[in-house]
Amino acid sequence: MVDKFHPDKPRASSAGGLDRDQRSSMLISVADETGALEQVLSEFTRQRINLTQIESRPSVDGRFDIYVNCALTPESKQWQSLIAALAANGHEVHVLEDSWVAWFPRHISDLDDVANRTLDAGTDLSADHPGFQDAPYRQRRAEIDAAARAYRFGDALPNVEYNPDEQRVWASIYLELRGRQERFACSRYLACVQEMERADVLGAHRPPQFQVVSDYLRERTGFQLRPVAGLLSSRDFLSGLAFRVFFATQYIRHVSRPMYTPEPDVCHELIGHAPMFADHDFANLSQEIGLASLGASDADIERLARCYWFSAEFGVLNEAGQRRAYGAGLLSSFGELEYACDGDWLPPEDEPRSPPVFLPFEPDRSADQPYPITDYQDVYFEAASLQQASERMRRFCRNLARPFYARLDDNTQRIWVDRAVRRIQH
Ligand SMILES: [Fe+2]
Repeated sequence: MVDKFHPDKPRASSAGGLDRDQRSSMLISVADETGALEQVLSEFTRQRINLTQIESRPSVDGRFDIYVNCALTPESKQWQSLIAALAANGHEVHVLEDSWVAWFPRHISDLDDVANRTLDAGTDLSADHPGFQDAPYRQRRAEIDAAARAYRFGDALPNVEYNPDEQRVWASIYLELRGRQERFACSRYLACVQEMERADVLGAHRPPQFQVVSDYLRERTGFQLRPVAGLLSSRDFLSGLAFRVFFATQYIRHVSRPMYTPEPDVCHELIGHAPMFADHDFANLSQEIGLASLGASDADIERLARCYWFSAEFGVLNEAGQRRAYGAGLLSSFGELEYACDGDWLPPEDEPRSPPVFLPFEPDRSADQPYPITDYQDVYFEAASLQQASERMRRFCRNLARPFYARLDDNTQRIWVDRAVRRIQH
């Protein structure tokens, strides 16, 4: 699920090719003496140049290296004049090359370029899919997928009129899951889902429209839904989280097997995931993973995807000695929720299975843990609280080797980076 990225082979592309930020970097080598740093900084002040990043460290030759990034292009007169002034003051100046990183969306509207790069489409059903032989079901999925593919940033979210069969599927799943969740979901999930039910955003009586759920979440934590037609690569999916955007499917599983779905459907997205996005700590945890994924190497994308899997999909909390789920994969599962969270769980006689292993949620460890996609997990990661999980994730992300630091400017919905990067289109 990880796309290819060759940092040593920049490639142009028809979708915009290479781009660069309005940033330039230099290394200034100064004598290791009092006042040297101030003298360098005063030159920036004199020329009214904004620094976006500064680091300093002793160099091997007994001097001091000051690494700076500023909001100028290398072609600008100001940049040239700065270099000349620093050199005239006796400093050694080395202009640094930009860092090349995998392409990533810089503005929330750039997610339009990501959303349709699905690895499969909602209509590509395999022969063992419950709806494979059902032509009207496939036609229905094709309509819902087409609406997701046509969606562009700023449009109203597609409205899906669910038919009576689909409404029955939703109602039976909703009631069945909610009963189990009352016993095994974490308290934050229960508080969020109950509030959504009181606000009539969620309920068994009908699958809610994305617009309604999205508006509700935006008001609480700034998270929003965006329709998608199928599975995205880990890189593309995680990039949405950086903007507090959750890519979600709107189609519903086949009526013949309401308790089973081979892929995420609207029940998984809205019953499993949506309530947790109303929680601030969970929203922060998710965005943290998303921001760390921007421009990350393929290997780090894989590690971040595992962290996402073991938290947002299959994470558990220890609440007063009881294991309680906050991951959507568990919260929307009919058997695995008990398997992971019921301390008295015993395997059915006809299906022997060992109990799972629980480890403390340490992203360093979770990042290297392989996982099954089509079976129960053998290992779950448990956190003391969502705040703890979020803080540990933040620390892990800060330690990833990446040539820049990124954050989202909430006002402009743009990703701010602290130094010059060139994005390689893939
Ligand atoms: Fe999911």
